Amino acid sequence: MVEISTSILSIKKENAIKTLYNLETAKTDYFHIDVMDGKFVPNNTNDVMLEYCEYLSSITNVPLDVHLMVEDVEQYIKSYLVFEPNIITIHFEAVKNKEKLKEYVDLIKQNNCKVGISIKPDTKVEEIYEILPYIHMVLVMTVEPGKGGQKLIPETIEKIKTLKKYLDDNGLEVDIEADGGINSQNLKTLVDAGCNIVAIGTAITDSNDYKSEIQKLKELA
Ligand code: DX5
Ligand code: ZN
Repeated sequence: MVEISTSILSIKKENAIKTLYNLETAKTDYFHIDVMDGKFVPNNTNDVMLEYCEYLSSITNVPLDVHLMVEDVEQYIKSYLVFEPNIITIHFEAVKNKEKLKEYVDLIKQNNCKVGISIKPDTKVEEIYEILPYIHMVLVMTVEPGKGGQKLIPETIEKIKTLKKYLDDNGLEVDIEADGGINSQNLKTLVDAGCNIVAIGTAITDSNDYKSEIQKLKELA
């Protein structure tokens, strides 16, 4: 069964505590923490995501799935490691060279945290083949990173199939998470293409019954 990582990017700040509580009781598998620095992407969500992580790490055991859309990767890895997340994902496009990429992967793993690499829609999967044996998850962006509520880019589905085939052909046990514009209409296509986790924001947080929405999505695949 596919795992659901609910993105809390678009929740209303004024009722955040109630929303987070309701998402936990609705049995989201992870909280997807979208950290944006205003440089790698125009929006800056760092302050609010730090606040939410502060709160979540004090009230819930639901694992945190931290998605860093930032330029200064090392600084943000260190500031989110304090919340003992399940996984920290950095963007391939934010790291200058493969030595630096391996350094950041090791930094995250040395702190007992799983590590993911995210690729934007225009980045070819072949570009991350070399790092795959060292990581736990690939976060395939199915929208341009930077905001919630966008439409899924259909061409990204082929990338997921290519990645899944490469992982299977090379005996690599790496999770594939899709992120952006996911809903009950396209979820099964993504799982059939090779995803075992999906990051979903507005399709869940805009619904009026989180529990039935998450249950419905899980039963689709
Ligand atoms: C976009 C984020 C996504 C987004 C998902 O930059 O990485 O996680 O918040 O939200 P929806 O499901 O609304 O596209
Ligand atoms: Zn995300």
